[in-house]
Amino acid sequence: MADPTGHILVVGASSGIGRAVAEHFARQGSVVTALARRADRLAELAEAGIATVAADVTDLAAIGGVLQSAVAERGLLTGLVYCAGVQLIKPMRSLGVDEVERVYKTNLVAPTLFAAAFGNARVSTRDAVFCAVSSVAAQRPEPAIVPYAASKAGLDALIRGLARELAPRRAVGVAPGWLDTEMTQAHARLYGDEFKAALEKRSPAGAATVDSVVDAIAFLMSPQARHVTGEILRVDGGATL
Ligand SMILES: NC(=O)c1ccc[n+]([C@@H]2O[C@H](COP(=O)([O-])OP(=O)(O)OC[C@H]3O[C@@H](n4cnc5c(N)ncnc54)[C@H](OP(=O)(O)O)[C@@H]3O)[C@@H](O)[C@H]2O)c1
Repeated sequence: MADPTGHILVVGASSGIGRAVAEHFARQGSVVTALARRADRLAELAEAGIATVAADVTDLAAIGGVLQSAVAERGLLTGLVYCAGVQLIKPMRSLGVDEVERVYKTNLVAPTLFAAAFGNARVSTRDAVFCAVSSVAAQRPEPAIVPYAASKAGLDALIRGLARELAPRRAVGVAPGWLDTEMTQAHARLYGDEFKAALEKRSPAGAATVDSVVDAIAFLMSPQARHVTGEILRVDGGATL
């Protein structure tokens, strides 16, 4: 289990995987800081004793200051879980500049800057772990999600590079398959009962869930995974085998 005296920053913690990760580490006894834009959703975590920061990760110049404030208030980070992400489902011919920029800023540029600040000895402990949520799309870019897939492939390269450059800190990632979260619920017409049944059928270990992704993150961040770094663990029930 993660160091129960540690301080873990969860970025993108107002819903889905990030919220479940924040709740998991708070239950384990970690000090948790949860960051996202929607203050009303973060307020629900504050009720569970989790410190909250309402911030937009695409405000790139503010990232260093956000980390410094979290550390000043609650101590050096022992872990950072970067869960913030946005999906964009559109053919290449219809892409707009603003939406492409938003995908890369949220999914790749911001985690790069969070990681850069995290690597500082005044921000994280020597044995701290950086973990980011990638996607199976990084290795299997489907039509209509190409910028999303490319941003996640960049995130995978970031994780592997960080594992070398930020050592002895570790850097790891998870690559979930399709999950039932607000991100996918926003496309209910694409992801109806027929889609879910087909996914279940092609997943030899059963379709992945938010809980199974949280379990994988908890393992990767734990001392039990102390020799695992630069690894991006696929959690998709085998759907992309
Ligand atoms: N659901 C899937 O099928 C699936 C599959 C593979 C990978 N993933 C990845 O899993 C991660 C979590 O997604 P999810 O499925 O849990 O969806 P989600 O419920 O929509 O969670 C996304 C989180 O990111 C935060 N976020 C987005 N833009 C942000 C910004 N500009 N600043 C700060 N926070 C921001 C959101 O908070 P606010 O809106 O409050 O800011 C929210 O907390 C993403 O990286 C996603 O790409 C998801």
